[in-house]
Amino acid sequence: DVIDIRALSKLGVFTYDPAFFSTSSCTSEITFIDGDAGLLYYRGYPIEQLAEKSDFLEVCYLLLNGELPTAAQKTEFSNNITHHTMVHDQLARFFNGFRRDAHPMAVMVGVVGALSAFYHDSLDINNPQHREISAKRLLAKVPTIAAMTHKYNVGEPFMYPKNKFGFVENLMYMMFATPAEEYVPNPVLVRALERILILHADHEQNASTSTVRLAGSSGANPFACIASGIAALWGPAHGGANEAALKMLEEIGDVSRVPEYVQGVKDKKYKLMGFGHRVYKNMDPRASVMRQTCYEVLKELKLENDKLFGLAMELEKTALKDSYFIDRKLYPNVDFYSGIVLRALGIPINMFTVIFAVARTIGWVSQWNEMIADAEHKIGRPRQLYRGSVRRDFVPIAKR
Ligand code: ACO
Repeated sequence: DVIDIRALSKLGVFTYDPAFFSTSSCTSEITFIDGDAGLLYYRGYPIEQLAEKSDFLEVCYLLLNGELPTAAQKTEFSNNITHHTMVHDQLARFFNGFRRDAHPMAVMVGVVGALSAFYHDSLDINNPQHREISAKRLLAKVPTIAAMTHKYNVGEPFMYPKNKFGFVENLMYMMFATPAEEYVPNPVLVRALERILILHADHEQNASTSTVRLAGSSGANPFACIASGIAALWGPAHGGANEAALKMLEEIGDVSRVPEYVQGVKDKKYKLMGFGHRVYKNMDPRASVMRQTCYEVLKELKLENDKLFGLAMELEKTALKDSYFIDRKLYPNVDFYSGIVLRALGIPINMFTVIFAVARTIGWVSQWNEMIADAEHKIGRPRQLYRGSVRRDFVPIAKR
């Protein structure tokens, strides 16, 4: 049930809803979630079907344009993205300003934000063609920057994108290849990363997307807006949860310690990372796909007896039987299993949230574009409940 309360502001009345438990900030035609039933649709298509039958660039086209592409549209879109993956050589120099051990998300915020200083030719946000060019540039260049943050971190040379590779293969190539060896992508692992990207591509008005919309509502350029989304994604309650969930599994270390750890959660000493969601009060549909992907990747790598995967399944089983989790409707979310898959793919733990940012870029861009294209949109401006001092007169410093 929806009540449009905007007219109340004219009467001087407003609502108090910190953390937005029951406030819609916009209308949108992009992503639908039914948290009670555990459903997630992009433009009406169930996430399970897209994860199984589609590929990431097709999903990007869908999110951005509203419809699945025809074969010709898909080829044109893919070619367009593939030919924009290079970044300006001067952008590469930004990296040297960071410490080698800087967290890759810190580097991402800075370098993606810096893109706005490189593309003055397409920053008129009221021009739909400029918006389209910016969207494609972001989609194509964020993976290149992401891979560069990793290479910089480990002290290896940057690998230039190769047009012969598909989008996901290219991301893996830029992260893992070295000039010394021929890189041959493993199709099972490429497919697994493709699925991770599809599952994380959009999730309606989450914290980072809302941040992008709020920044964009002031007319800020899209590169700056996406950098603000990356910053909001970083926190452990949001995109940082995959990193936190894997660290948690490593800390538990052994199945025998699961009951003791769960007790600590119930005693509120810490949270079960990768569990719970503001909207899902049922299984996150992305978590089921991710668990299946986990099986497939570990089988391919002959790691079926992976200790952390066994531990995660035991933790899930224990939690789902416990009244603490049942009463609060806490189920695994997408990030409970994604860390195990990312680790198996050879992606270092500090890059997990970066991969999430690569995936979510299309969601942020699509949501930003939808907002700007709406001629009625206004600057986002929440109100507050003032609880500070009442009016008082200034006291000179000698009398304080
Ligand atoms: N472990 C233990 N208890 C939890 C957890 C958890 N992961 N999540 C929520 N709870 C408890 C809260 O302590 C609270 O208990 P109370 O009623 O006794 O006070 C109750 O469940 C309700 O939780 P809220 O904090 O009100 O839920 P909210 O919607 O604000 O939080 C959030 C959602 C941030 C995702 C939370 O569940 C959490 O911190 N989970 C762990 C981090 C995580 O996995 N984040 C990823 C989210 S998905 C994504 O960003 C892709």
